[in-house]
Amino acid sequence: MDIFRTKSVEQSIRDTESPDHQLRKRLTAVDLTVFGIGVIVGTGIFVLTGQVAKEVAGPAVAISFVVAGVVCGLAALCYAEFASTIPVAGSAYTFAFATLGEFTAWVIGWDLLLELALAAAVVAVGWSGYVASLLASLGLALPEYIAGDDPVVNVPAMLIVLALTVVLVAGIKVSSRVNLVLVIVKVTVVLLVILAGLFFVKAANYTPFIPEAQATERVEGVQAPLIQLIFGITPVAFGVIGVFSAAAIVFFAFIGFDIVATAAEETIEPQRDVPRGILASLGICTVLYVAVSLVVVGMQHYSDLSTAAPLSDAFIAVGQPWLATIISLGAVAGLTTVVLVLLLGQTRVLFAMCRDGLLPRGLATVSPAFGTPARLTILIGAVTMALAGFVPFGELAELVNIGTLFAFVVVSAGVIVLRRTRPDLPRAFRVPLVPVLPILSVLACLYLMLNLPAETWLRFVIWMIVGVVLYFAYGYWHSRAATPWQKRG
Ligand code: ALA
Repeated sequence: MDIFRTKSVEQSIRDTESPDHQLRKRLTAVDLTVFGIGVIVGTGIFVLTGQVAKEVAGPAVAISFVVAGVVCGLAALCYAEFASTIPVAGSAYTFAFATLGEFTAWVIGWDLLLELALAAAVVAVGWSGYVASLLASLGLALPEYIAGDDPVVNVPAMLIVLALTVVLVAGIKVSSRVNLVLVIVKVTVVLLVILAGLFFVKAANYTPFIPEAQATERVEGVQAPLIQLIFGITPVAFGVIGVFSAAAIVFFAFIGFDIVATAAEETIEPQRDVPRGILASLGICTVLYVAVSLVVVGMQHYSDLSTAAPLSDAFIAVGQPWLATIISLGAVAGLTTVVLVLLLGQTRVLFAMCRDGLLPRGLATVSPAFGTPARLTILIGAVTMALAGFVPFGELAELVNIGTLFAFVVVSAGVIVLRRTRPDLPRAFRVPLVPVLPILSVLACLYLMLNLPAETWLRFVIWMIVGVVLYFAYGYWHSRAATPWQKRG
């Protein structure tokens, strides 16, 4: 069996030109940057900042954002090089097919399906929470069985996924317009937090900037981080180590820049614009995050921050409830675009996998009326709706982190492989200092992965085993990369 057969870069590009499977090319570098910001700025900044400052890092949460931003920056350079070389839908999946072979590509594609579907559902549930609390503040509280902390079925979460699925079927340009409006609202609110918040900053709140380290209660069994089970390192809150542990958590806030690469095929000049879109959106978000976190920990002592809605609650704490309402509205807009772009990325990865025959090819047709993969979009919308409506989440969000970090590892390693196997390919963007930077990227991502709970690893491994079984039962035999005598059906 040849499970490491690769698909040449030329073939990948040719496949995008077949009329039935062709996506419309409409996007520019600015559209991509807006898409990037649309998906990056979300739960991470609106929720995690407070939680992490309060429990793990103190005011130094701003440094944690810088650390996570640097780790993502290394991976982003690798994504940018790939996207400038292979401008085809599918992101890490397509890159892996060209370098590490079909099996690795399948594994990564399967991994991305987990990351994106779960992330979209998790953020839809977060959206529902913000909407419910806004409605409650207007005197329109929703019944507990359809919204809130533990509903029987989360109706607002399902409705937002449904609405966004309709937008995505309607066309990529429509999606990017909707996205643009919501991103403007979201960034305005983030800037409002920074500028208005500055007036309420008290220097005393910054001391100590890095609070003294404290041993946390030891977590045992599958809940413990893998690093503790393997090396016996107990997690520490605060102190310099706390700053790094916090980086593993706020990593979530940066997830999404990789999704810009999934839209490469719909970009007018992908070789030039996809690297720009990836690096610009990541850079802008890092600056915003560091500024927001510095302001918020300056407004309130870190130990007093709220964990559910830290940004708006900080304004309530300084006596500005109307600003708090505006910020909640911005959070609703912000989370909407995150779900939109996650769903978009999800359809594009699955599209690429079906087009290659690893999943049924019939699913990868483009609707003539809309120029989008309508059938797949509806299928994914339905699954995500079910997940968002009925599955209780919580720690499942950590699966999103592990899935993403795993993809980063493969892409970073892939850059080194493709430089060796295809030095001849034109690369509009090149990672500096290869192989040092990609190796650093792999190590940094592995370190963050080790900080995740053993339970998360277990779930991740089970999902991957299901994927491997599916590959040998279906994908291997139907793959378009298979030679005729290897192929069935
Ligand atoms: N980065 C995205 C967020 O913060 C996933 O919600």
